[in-house]
Amino acid sequence: MNIDDLPVRDELRGQSPYGAPQLDVPVQLNTNENPYPLPEPLVARIAERVAEAARTLNRYPDRDAVELREGLARYLTTTTGFARTREQVWAANGSNEVIQQLLQTFGGPGRSALGFEPSYQMHELISRGTGTRWIAGPRRADFTIDLDAAIAALAEHRPDVLFVCSPNNPTGTAVEADTVRALYDAAQAVKPTMVIVDEAYVEFSHRDSLLPLLAGRPLMVVTRTMSKAFGAAGLRLGYLAADRAVVDAVQLVRLPYHLSAVTQATALACLEHTETLLGYVELLKGERDRVVGALRALGLEVTASDSNFIQFGTFEDPHAVWQAILDRGVLIRDNGVPGRLRVTAGTPAENDAFLDAVTTVIKEL
Ligand SMILES: Cc1ncc(COP(=O)(O)O)c(C=O)c1O
Repeated sequence: MNIDDLPVRDELRGQSPYGAPQLDVPVQLNTNENPYPLPEPLVARIAERVAEAARTLNRYPDRDAVELREGLARYLTTTTGFARTREQVWAANGSNEVIQQLLQTFGGPGRSALGFEPSYQMHELISRGTGTRWIAGPRRADFTIDLDAAIAALAEHRPDVLFVCSPNNPTGTAVEADTVRALYDAAQAVKPTMVIVDEAYVEFSHRDSLLPLLAGRPLMVVTRTMSKAFGAAGLRLGYLAADRAVVDAVQLVRLPYHLSAVTQATALACLEHTETLLGYVELLKGERDRVVGALRALGLEVTASDSNFIQFGTFEDPHAVWQAILDRGVLIRDNGVPGRLRVTAGTPAENDAFLDAVTTVIKEL
């Protein structure tokens, strides 16, 4: 029997599961991970906290993750200057699960979600997975959001959920606060619309977080993750900030005890080491800017990046360039954006290996 013989839901037929191809090569710059392992003192603290949690693993974990949500609210407050409390924060297993819970609550059969493509493909896949109809919204040729075209798309499609990814994956571009304000107003003018601002990469941005826009916008949600800036992709910890009514609504769909005691303990240990981890973010921002400069010096077109990755081109056959770079031991990402490829900022040595490979490859084009 194969998958086509199973009574799978119609909207899932013929779809492919999400996932970047993982290949065993020396330099892996394809999944926007943080290249720095957690520092040893933090590893020791995680072991301590997890041991403590292990003593009560016969019991279910704190269903409401109170201590963790307090810690996350504190982190948001200190890094943005915009005060958040535990009641305005919710956490789950990766921001993907946060987004899934939001779509289970505010999307679903008979409802739709709109995002500006190219963007993070999981917004579409989670929409489909929750029975939410997906609508591909427009972008300008330079990958910024064309406000007039966006407002026209909102009026035409009347989505229930609007995604704004800032900084956007795979382009790297951040969205201006004025654009988000205008999109929120335009969406609400059509019908009540949940506006999900995905800030997975915001710590790497040259711009401030859009978090303060939550003030006076009860249907806006900001999603965040510990997978990127905190260097803890393996932890699976994402969170959101929103009006407390949104947090209350999400309780209707979350599984009981969805966040394990081990996850909560590990995330709390990571929060204790925020300053050190944000130090790595500064290193990565410097490396990102260095790679942008070097690619431009090679005569390539580079999309301005506010993330820990860079979109560059343009190539007649990006897949051939991707393969040629891979043949030199460096794995980057071909997201299918016409003419473009994407590379994650790594350690200085990884970035040098990438730049050497690109320099050679483009000479041979
Ligand atoms: C824009 C964006 N949002 C969310 C995520 C998912 O992050 P998490 O690991 O928290 O599920 C990613 C991961 O690559 C991403 O690129």
